[in-house]
Amino acid sequence: MVDTAKFWDRAARKYAAAPIRDMASYEYTLERTRSHLRPDHRVLELGCGTGSTALLLADAVAAYTGTDISGQMIRIAREKAAAGPEGLHFEVAGAGDAVRGTASCDVVLGLNLLHLLRTPEAVLRDAHARLSEGGLVITKTVCLAEPSLGPKRFAFAALIPLMRAVGKAPFVQRFTFAGLERMIQAAGFELIETGTGPAMSRYIVARKR
Ligand SMILES: C[S@@+](CC[C@H](N)C(=O)[O-])C[C@H]1O[C@@H](n2cnc3c(N)ncnc32)[C@H](O)[C@@H]1O
Repeated sequence: MVDTAKFWDRAARKYAAAPIRDMASYEYTLERTRSHLRPDHRVLELGCGTGSTALLLADAVAAYTGTDISGQMIRIAREKAAAGPEGLHFEVAGAGDAVRGTASCDVVLGLNLLHLLRTPEAVLRDAHARLSEGGLVITKTVCLAEPSLGPKRFAFAALIPLMRAVGKAPFVQRFTFAGLERMIQAAGFELIETGTGPAMSRYIVARKR
C-alpha cells in the first residue's frame, strides 16, 4: 500500500494533463457552486488537486485558499496560478490539518474528496468549527455503495482493494447517498441542496447550524 501523499504526487503530472472526463458534470458542479458564492466570501478548498476549479472560482470571492496533501499537485497549481487572480493562494496540507486552522472562513469546498478521507466525520466537524455563522460546506463525492447507481459501480468498487494492493488505487470509502448525507448532518449542518448531476456523484451543499 502506498502512502496517500506519494500516491497523489505520482499521479499529479498525468492528472494535470488529462482532459476533464465528463464536461457536463464538471459544468454542473461549477455552475451550482458559483451560485452559492458571494464577493465577500473566504473560501477554503480541500483536496484542490492542480487548482483548476480554484482558478475558475477565485474571481467570484474575496479570498480563496486551495489546499492539497500532494506537494506535486500544489506545485502545478501554483504554476497555473502564477498570473492568476489576486486573493488566490495554494498550500500543501492534508484535509485534516487544513481545516483545523484558526482563521474563520465562509465556505469549505471539497470536490471528489470525502470518499478519499479515512476520517471524513472529523474533517466535517472541524470544518463546522472553522466556518463563520451560516457558513457552507460544499462537496461532491463518489458514492460506490449507492444502490441506485446500478451494478457497474459495484464491479468497480470490488476492484479497488486489488488495485490498492499494487499501488494503483488510493484508499476509498464506500458511501451511499443517504449515509453521506447523514454524516454531514451529524457534523452540525443542514442540507440546503443535494443533486447527482450527470456523473451521479453526490453534490451536496450544507449550511452550518
Ligand atoms: C480525485 S482528485 C480531485 C481533485 C479536485 N478536487 C477535482 O475535483 O478535480 C483528489 C485530490 O484529493 C487529494 N487528496 C487525497 N487525499 C487527501 C487528503 N487526505 N487531504 C487532502 N487532499 C487529499 C489528492 O492529492 C487529489 O489532488
